[in-house]
Amino acid sequence: MCGIVGYVGNEAPQGIIIEGLKKLEYRGYDSAGIAVVNDGKIKLRKHVGEIVNLEKLIGNENLGGHVGIGHTRWATHGAPSDVNSHPHMSNDNRIALVHNGTVENYVEIREQLEKEGFTFKSDTDSEVAAVLFGKYYNELGDLKATMDKVTHEMTGTFALAAIAEDQPEKFVAYRKNAPLIVGKGNGCNFVASDFSALLKYTKDVYLLETGDTVVLTPDNVTIYDESGKEIKRETMHISWDESVAEKGKYEHFMLKEIFDQPKAIEETLDRNLSDGGRVSLYDMTLTKEDFAKFNKICIVACGTAYHAGLVGRNIFEKFVKMPVEVDVASEFRYRDPFVDEKTLFIAISQSGETADTLEALREAKRKGARVLSIVNVVGSTVARESDDVFYTWAGPEISVASTKAYTTQLLSLYLLALYLGDLRGTISEEYYREVVSELSEIPEKLEKVLTLRGDIEKLAKKLYDRDQVFFIGRGMDASVAYEGSLKLKEISYINSFAIAAGELKHGTIALMEPTTIVVALATQSKLFDKMVSNIQEVKARNAHVISIAKEGNTAIEEHSNETFYIPECMDEVSPLLSVIPLQIYAYYVAKEKGCEIDRPRNLAKSVTVE
Ligand code: F6R
Repeated sequence: MCGIVGYVGNEAPQGIIIEGLKKLEYRGYDSAGIAVVNDGKIKLRKHVGEIVNLEKLIGNENLGGHVGIGHTRWATHGAPSDVNSHPHMSNDNRIALVHNGTVENYVEIREQLEKEGFTFKSDTDSEVAAVLFGKYYNELGDLKATMDKVTHEMTGTFALAAIAEDQPEKFVAYRKNAPLIVGKGNGCNFVASDFSALLKYTKDVYLLETGDTVVLTPDNVTIYDESGKEIKRETMHISWDESVAEKGKYEHFMLKEIFDQPKAIEETLDRNLSDGGRVSLYDMTLTKEDFAKFNKICIVACGTAYHAGLVGRNIFEKFVKMPVEVDVASEFRYRDPFVDEKTLFIAISQSGETADTLEALREAKRKGARVLSIVNVVGSTVARESDDVFYTWAGPEISVASTKAYTTQLLSLYLLALYLGDLRGTISEEYYREVVSELSEIPEKLEKVLTLRGDIEKLAKKLYDRDQVFFIGRGMDASVAYEGSLKLKEISYINSFAIAAGELKHGTIALMEPTTIVVALATQSKLFDKMVSNIQEVKARNAHVISIAKEGNTAIEEHSNETFYIPECMDEVSPLLSVIPLQIYAYYVAKEKGCEIDRPRNLAKSVTVE
């Protein structure tokens, strides 16, 4: 959470930084700010609320200069307010600094600085970094040496960038367990929390390692590793064009990303399936011998990625025939999990920066597990700290509510399970080929499901004001129900609830009222009749039932108020299709309610605090 942009070059930084911050607004939108060096002074502008508020504050003013930093905030320490916004200044106003992450020992540092006579304006941990930076800069007079000293004193996670009033063409940045990349331009250089802020200006980036400090001037990028040694890093070229981070013809990123799914799935398939229909994971270092020693798989993730993991458990048990545990990352460490060198630990994360997932991954590594991650953001911390990475290739996901990341995570789990099942000899050749063929048909079938949009929109217009929605299903449908419910609650603020359909009668059915909506998933052939019974049970309590079934299963219609059909497919792959109507439903309900769809209240895309 929080987004950072820094620029140094021939142009004035203001427009570039504000454009970049807008691309990062998904990371936090509680406040925004910018600072530039001009005429030997730092010009600082910051404002609570979204970036448009900052733009209004600046109006037609030209801040000028050639170096600047900017920040968009997701509040952790200190409420959203002008004074808690970044950049923060040193006491003598010679330094401006932006920070993403948390300074764990900020209380002690602040107390010490106060004893020395320094003062603080905000309630944030980040201001401590700015004031400390100012103190040491006055002693050392060098941005790199100051950054070294400040980051040695602070504990926690941070991406930092700082400018000084007497450095009109230079700035310094640092990365420790929070995302930060360097963009290499022509006569200009950048830092940013992620690629999307820079795609308009450059596609060549350096991925910083944790502990790296970087000094940027218009013509040079100098990177120092944790030991302080200057190091050479290769640039990485990003092939995405700018439009992947644009809404295009869609009103919201979420809708665009829902409609991106056939393409995203196709891309993931293309990258991992050979012409002969075999899963070929070129970079995977796991061997048959490695695999022979594992006796269990442990999948850990948060939110939507956790819901993908729930589907993954079914798939792995089926294809790989091994015990599989799925945990919410924030809870994983507290139960002293039974994980050792015989465990294959799979972390799933869109951003690759989620603190809970990272800490769970580190705990698993300490216990000797082999770590494989399923990640969307290339070069992210989860990816770098894993033994093997499976990239989902969904492209940038800007909307806070995850859609295409979820379906590509599902697909990655299918492909991985096929690969590992093949390696272990636990999946028959015939079944393997059947699943591959079904997966290859998913992009086309997705296009078909997306045509439900108009009917779902009409339904949402009719039912958007209901305040209680249940999502039910059995088997893999139950896992998809959790995701459907999360989608609806996070963007429409409706109190939705998902439950395995068979569990309803053990208590929750008491909540059914005539105004209750029940979304019932009934795509699993063997469980269809049981689902129809559950639907009848809620219908008997006058709930309004919206069913999702496979084409041809029309028997469900007489028990449902509305039915949406997904194309015929193998039961195992149906989550890839059945989640789509739920995503579209959540989108249109939120739209009807007038909610901020891409940036729901209190949330951020990348959750880098525990
Ligand atoms: C919900 C959503 C979140 C994320 C969760 C994990 O739509 O996006 O629940 O899935 O915060 O994030 P990543 O996948 O980046 O680790």
